[in-house]
Formats: sequence, structure tokens, C-alpha cells
Amino acid sequence: MPSSKELVAKFSDLKSLPHVAIRVTQLVNSASSSMQEFEDIIKLDPVLVIRMLKLVNSPFFGLVNKVESVSKAVVYIGMQNLRNLVAIEALRDLFEDETAEGFSRRLLWHHSATVAILSQMIAKRIFGLVGEDEFLAGIIHDVGLIVEDQLVGAELRRACLNYSEGNRIITEYENETIETNHAKVGGLLAYQWNMQDDVLVAIKKHHQHDKVFPIPSIVAIVQIAEYIANRMKFAAVAGKVDPLPAYLKGHMKERMADYKVLIKDLPGEMAKADDLYGDDEE
Ligand SMILES: [Fe+2]
Ligand SMILES: [Fe+2]
Repeated sequence: MPSSKELVAKFSDLKSLPHVAIRVTQLVNSASSSMQEFEDIIKLDPVLVIRMLKLVNSPFFGLVNKVESVSKAVVYIGMQNLRNLVAIEALRDLFEDETAEGFSRRLLWHHSATVAILSQMIAKRIFGLVGEDEFLAGIIHDVGLIVEDQLVGAELRRACLNYSEGNRIITEYENETIETNHAKVGGLLAYQWNMQDDVLVAIKKHHQHDKVFPIPSIVAIVQIAEYIANRMKFAAVAGKVDPLPAYLKGHMKERMADYKVLIKDLPGEMAKADDLYGDDEE
């Protein structure tokens, strides 16, 4: 079996992560980057330009005058939002429709989008944060599964089937059949992608249920979001809900009233996100 490093190296040979996505992520993380640099890089990707203009002219931004220039759009949308838009564009192609027993990329896309939206909602409503980094972590937290699907698909399916029938967490079954797991692989990929540390940690540790993470931290928020998404039938592997660590359960209980409202509002927020980021061809 190839190691997680070899998997990521092979995957990167196969599907180069879009240059634009990597560059934009670097720009967001660098304090010295200018709006001009954003503009220059975005302009290289026409699909991105169209989506960005669509986003900035959507009711979400409530602008009176239509924005038609990339430079203005960058200013209105803001760097973090832009980075998330670019990440969604980069990942969308990776989650192409393809279904086989045990694992489905389409299901994974819905799962990832739901976890992203929930992570942002939790960050904003429960903790009063901006929520954009949490959104990003949510959308890419399971990207390691795509790498495994691509390179060791048969073993991943076996792991998913064992997971469906068993009562341990998914990474343990992956460790048995693949000798690594999607959290490790995703973490390496995010490292290559120059993701910021707290997002990287969230990807690497989102299945570590035996550790206590600060509340709030991106990894704890993603774990809560994952739990809610799975309970609402948006699991990465159909029908599975792993129990939430006790301290996070306690936190949810304390804020139960807020979480109830949040869950009630989720379908509306998902529809909104679909308007903003959805694929027109679908
Ligand atoms: Fe996962
Ligand atoms: Fe997940």
C-alpha cells in the first residue's frame, strides 16, 4: 500500500490543483498582498470571473448598481469570500458524479457543502465569529477521500462497507485497508495547498474524537457541524452518524435553544448558498 505521502504525490501528478486556487490562498494568508494582485490572478480564470460577478451582483450583497469590473468585485466580495469561492471552484471538478457501492462522490459533495454551511453558521451564531475560515475548513475537510477514491478506490470501498456495518470511526477502517486515512491524506494535501494552520489542523484532526479541542476552534466547530450534518442525513457514508465527544455534546446542550434555531434555518441557508455558489449546469 502506498503511504499517505505517496498518495498525495501521485494525486498531485494526476490532478494538479488549480494554480489560481493555490495562488489566491497564498495571497489571503500573506499580510502584504494587495487587491491588485488578487485582480491579476482572478483575471486568468474566466469561469471564476463570471462566478465572482454573479456573486457580487446577487441579492446577498444588496448593491444598487450592477458591478461589472473585476477590481470592484474584489473589493466588495472581500478576500476571504473570494478565497472560498475559488476553493469551491477548484474542488467542484474533483467531486464529479460517480457512484459505486459503499462510496459516492456526489454524496460527499453534499456532505461537504452541508458541513461548510453549518460550520459557518455555528461560528457566526454561536460564537460571533466571521465564519469564513470555518466555511473553508468544512468544504475541504474530507478531500482526502477523493484522493483515496482516485488511487486506492477498491480499498476505500471496502473500508466504507466495513464502516457501514461496524461501530468504529471511519479512519480506523481506512487504516486497516489503506494503511492511512483521509484525514492524514487531506492534511498533507492542504499543507501543499498552503492552507493556514488552523484550517489544516481541522482537516487533519476532524475525526480525533479522543482529544479535547478548545471551544471555539475550527476543528471543534467542524466536528459539531459534521455531527449535525450526519444526523440530518447528509453523511459522507450514507446512514452513518458517529457519536459526538462528550464535552462537545455538553456544549450543545448548554446552547440547545440556539442550536435548535440554527438547525431550523439550515435549509434556507443551504438554498442561499446554492444560489451563490451553485453549479449552473446542474
Ligand atoms: Fe472525514
Ligand atoms: Fe465529513
